[in-house]
Amino acid sequence: MIPIWTQVDDYIEDRLIEADGVLSEVLAANRREGLPEIDVTAAQGKLLQLLVRMKGAKRILEIGTLGAYSTIWMARGLPQDGTAVSLELDPRHADVARRNIALAGLEAKVEVRTGDARASLEEMEKAGIEPFDFIFIDADKPNNPDYLKSALRLSRRGTVIIGDNVVRSGDVVNRHSTDPRVHGVRTFFDLMAGDARLSATAIQTVGRKGYDGFAMAIVQG
Ligand SMILES: C[S@@+](CC[C@H](N)C(=O)[O-])C[C@H]1O[C@@H](n2cnc3c(N)ncnc32)[C@H](O)[C@@H]1O
Repeated sequence: MIPIWTQVDDYIEDRLIEADGVLSEVLAANRREGLPEIDVTAAQGKLLQLLVRMKGAKRILEIGTLGAYSTIWMARGLPQDGTAVSLELDPRHADVARRNIALAGLEAKVEVRTGDARASLEEMEKAGIEPFDFIFIDADKPNNPDYLKSALRLSRRGTVIIGDNVVRSGDVVNRHSTDPRVHGVRTFFDLMAGDARLSATAIQTVGRKGYDGFAMAIVQG
């Protein structure tokens, strides 16, 4: 039997998410290339796009590209003169992502930078790059604390910061977990809680990708 969460995701997609040949082809290309199926769902991609539009973001930073499925959802929410930078460690993922971005006609707006995101972030900080309006953190979870610290340095007042996979089937409440991803997410929460520049919350999500959640914050000072 199809789990009820998946049935509801199907219903939401059927009613609210327009059929999209490009995004279907992006997922097909990711599968053909053997990329892990750990991209956001369509409903989550649309959520990210709506948040980009609600924020009126002109500059997006994504940490963790994979095949650029979420990148494309977000970049499509940018205005004509908007841009996005997405960071990816695996050159094979980055190659597939660039092809998918070209397929979506977004190559003029979206840059994929290959390499360890911590190094790419440091480079951007050193270069004094213009701050971002919207930052999506979705790479290796043990490094989430470093990503949040860099995200703050690359932010301005009003920047929105989203972190994916922060509930981890509920494991986030297990302080004795030996999983470094859980530890990374718990430290990420601690940093958000302890930084007066951030106003943050998190929402639990269920769906075809299981039980997880998003953290979201705004830079308020
Ligand atoms: C969950 S996937 C990203 C999914 C994508 N945001 C989407 O929803 O379509 C995580 C990606 O982060 C990449 N990654 C892992 N460690 C990284 C690192 N240290 N620096 C940059 N990217 C990394 C992985 O190779 C993988 O492609």
